[in-house]
Amino acid sequence: MQTVHELIDKLNKEHALKKEEWVFLLGHRTEEDAEYLFSCARKQQQKYFGNCVYTRGLIEFTNICRNDCYYCGIRKSNPNAERYRLTTEQILSCAKSGYELGFRTFVLQGGEDLAYKDEDIVCLVRTIKEAYPDCAVTLSIGEKSYESYQKYFDAGADRYLLRHETADEVHYRKLHPAELSLEHRKQCLYDLKEIGYQVGCGFMVGSPGQTYETLAEDMLFITKVQPQMVGIGPFIPHHDTPFREEQAGTLELTLFLLGLLRLLIPNLLLPATTALGTIAPTGREQGILAGANVVMPNLSPVGVRKKYELYDNKICTGDEAAECRGCLNRRMESIGYELVVDRGDFVPVSGL
Ligand code: SAM
Ligand code: FES
Repeated sequence: MQTVHELIDKLNKEHALKKEEWVFLLGHRTEEDAEYLFSCARKQQQKYFGNCVYTRGLIEFTNICRNDCYYCGIRKSNPNAERYRLTTEQILSCAKSGYELGFRTFVLQGGEDLAYKDEDIVCLVRTIKEAYPDCAVTLSIGEKSYESYQKYFDAGADRYLLRHETADEVHYRKLHPAELSLEHRKQCLYDLKEIGYQVGCGFMVGSPGQTYETLAEDMLFITKVQPQMVGIGPFIPHHDTPFREEQAGTLELTLFLLGLLRLLIPNLLLPATTALGTIAPTGREQGILAGANVVMPNLSPVGVRKKYELYDNKICTGDEAAECRGCLNRRMESIGYELVVDRGDFVPVSGL
């Protein structure tokens, strides 16, 4: 078996590894390996993006959900979640202030809220695209039929985020109730890709039951799907879920995986997530230095931010965080990067 260092070089060159190589790499990593990985990841990041960091304005428009994922603070069985839905006017007002602040991508995220019919989502997408034709709209509203995804795409939606959560069947069952299936979630990702969306999959780092084997499965799945975006962040327990007593994922492993993802797909759109900023005060800055190139500040009205509580102690939910972009701009400048006013689309590169 090769050393971790050699496997990092191989990944950087071939953009793929075998399952046993992923397991070895993850299981034998040292601090020096991580430093080496991050320096390779930053070279790729610089090559494709320079010191530019893309931003997406996140609008959490409903916390009502028909699903009961064991890890999630807004799961339907949490009676303590204070439920809300934003009106179209509220959503448009978030987009307006976001546009003025320099956002050119809006991410509409929510639980799987059946009150929104396809027509409602179509209307929402159309309205935003008409008001801001130079902006991208990303949807993150869970598992839908091929026909529904097609309708949203035809209305102008550009991208779709649907984390696969884990690519391992047994692990998937540990995280979700029987009504949900990994097979269906994967099918949704294939459908979205076929329709023509820029697609994002991803997973939580350190979710209960995760092992180096399941992480290796995640990396193989991502290699197969070749998504344009991958969202990863640490699992953080929520006090009103069955996983309240579980351990959170670590900063160290999340950063290492961000570095690996940058080498796996060098031009990938890869966010340093809010969850990463929640487990460590400078988590997002460290995420960028490990290879990430996107941040997703919250544009939701301050009054609802605490209610979209997926996990405990989520940052940027207080009055002081009303203007996340300014805060992130300063944070990025402190490490030599800058937030740019740009849609930040995926740019295919031939011959990778
Ligand atoms: N309903 C949509 C879906 O299922 O894709 C989007 C909303 S869902 C809350 C967005 C993501 O939050 C999930 O894909 C999951 O990975 C993440 N998430 C949920 N609970 C979490 C927790 N306790 N810690 C960290 N991330 C969590
Ligand atoms: Fe539906 Fe979390 S269980 S968004």
